[in-house]
Amino acid sequence: MSQTNTIDLDKQYDVSGDLYAEVIHGLSQQPRSVPPKFFYDEVGSRLFEAICETEEYYPTRTEMAILQENLDEIVAHIGPDCVLVEPGCGSIQKVRQLIEAAKPHTYVPMDISGDYLQEVAKQLVADYPEVKVHPAVIDYTKPIMLPSTPKAARKIAFFPGSSIGNFTPEDAVDFLTNIAAMVGHGGGLLIGVDLKKEPAILSAAYNDAAGVTAQFNLNLLTRINTDLGANFDLENFNHHAFYNEHEGRVEMHLISDADQQVHINGTKFDIAEGESIHTENSYKYTIKEFHDLARQAGFTPSTVWTDTNELFSIHFLENIE
Ligand code: AVI
Repeated sequence: MSQTNTIDLDKQYDVSGDLYAEVIHGLSQQPRSVPPKFFYDEVGSRLFEAICETEEYYPTRTEMAILQENLDEIVAHIGPDCVLVEPGCGSIQKVRQLIEAAKPHTYVPMDISGDYLQEVAKQLVADYPEVKVHPAVIDYTKPIMLPSTPKAARKIAFFPGSSIGNFTPEDAVDFLTNIAAMVGHGGGLLIGVDLKKEPAILSAAYNDAAGVTAQFNLNLLTRINTDLGANFDLENFNHHAFYNEHEGRVEMHLISDADQQVHINGTKFDIAEGESIHTENSYKYTIKEFHDLARQAGFTPSTVWTDTNELFSIHFLENIE
């Protein structure tokens, strides 16, 4: 790649250091687990985009529609010339609408994958030459530092997709507290939150008929094989996702089909038939539950927009305490 084709990344994080330590730690726990942030290698990111296209996975298209329908009002909440920060930017489809309508002074896309971010930044610089783009490689489950941006500008964070649901409620409060500090007094957060609903709808969304979510879940093992030289046999694990009503969350697991031994770079794990590797929680909230969480983090809930079926919600929260 030539010099002119690269964009400076603020590299606050390097995934390779943590993958090994966190995978070994998680697999040594009872019940075993692997953090969901490791789903998103190149293949995993593509599979996630494919999940968003499935008939059963309603959050993406519902959130897009809410955004589109209420764009003028949302933009009025954000205000002109802001610094727009998107931790874990993933696909930039949603933020494009905001950039075009709110015309931020600066956009700060943040992601765990530097390669992905480089691509995103290049596209955005080409498409919106009037917006300053400052990409930063971060792990948003850790404290986030904002690259230097105009001091006087209002800072608005954008966290769509209900990624907040992938934190436990306690960790969600910590994350929101970090975001409140990052946007500072007078700043805001526009956040997408999946709502509690009939369990059958939730179960279908994480068990699509085409099996894309199953592939996404199993790709975690492929990634560990590739990146850490492990020998998981994918034939011996099954995708299992269900709504745990008591906890208010969809859980994803990989269930072992057999008694098996897995080696990861010299460390050996004996995994019994029927044993689970817990790979993801996706918490669902009522609007009131989410407002309580936001208040604990020091935010003041402003406006909430939903679809007519109340499947999904978009909240504007302010740091005005
Ligand atoms: C990224 N995150 C909000 C998705 C979710 O719904 O929890 C990830 C996902 N897992 C399975 N399907 C989608």
